[in-house]
Amino acid sequence: MRKPIIAGNWKMYKTAFEAVDFVKNLKPEVSDVHDRAIVICPPHPVLKDVGDVIRDSNIALGAQNLFWEDEGAYTGEVSAPMLKSVGCTYVIIGHSERRQFFGETDETVNKKLFAALKHNLFPIVCIGETLEQREKGETFEVIEKQIREGLKNLVISNWSLVVIAYEPVWAIGTGKTATPQQAQEVHAFIRGLLPRDVAQEIRILYGGSVKPDNIKELMAQPDIDGGLVGGASLKIESFEKIVKY
Ligand code: 13P
Repeated sequence: MRKPIIAGNWKMYKTAFEAVDFVKNLKPEVSDVHDRAIVICPPHPVLKDVGDVIRDSNIALGAQNLFWEDEGAYTGEVSAPMLKSVGCTYVIIGHSERRQFFGETDETVNKKLFAALKHNLFPIVCIGETLEQREKGETFEVIEKQIREGLKNLVISNWSLVVIAYEPVWAIGTGKTATPQQAQEVHAFIRGLLPRDVAQEIRILYGGSVKPDNIKELMAQPDIDGGLVGGASLKIESFEKIVKY
């Protein structure tokens, strides 16, 4: 059985005070939830503060990005050992906003993936097609390339930590969720691309306008194993409802 994951990607939102206040208030509201993993991914400057509040709780800490070297002259970057040292157990890799605005490619995704695995972080590898690609009928081709190249050279033992997030770019921040059937179709396709020995164990999350009123139907799909939530993870009320779908 695949344990579901509900992860909040805060993107570039919340100052230190706002972030700490949020997790202090969220913690007691979800303390009895144990049948699914809850992950909060705040911006880098507040990881340590948020991590201190949720240490020894059922909420895990994730980062939104990392660099593939452990250390070095790479101004502005952070490494897997640094993320571990402040309590991270997850890291988002290759989010479409990083591909779009910061030059991430399947090649950099692959390097970051190996850096995360080397340090025992759960990588949440994001893939997804743009509206233009969907309208041209290229969705499956795009997804296949992102999986084959972004996740290449993994050996079977590497796969146990890997989490994949399918986030159709046209559904992110638009209020336009993929229908559960559209999402399920792609999730099943993704699972079909994974090595047969591990395919049934890999968690595939859906992201793109996940809200309290659509999470249940999404989670009812056989190949949807959780949500990567943007906007609705910024408010306790909506995030709590999604966690408790
Ligand atoms: P929204 O939930 O705001 O559409 O964002 C989705 C996302 O990009 C999560 O990583």
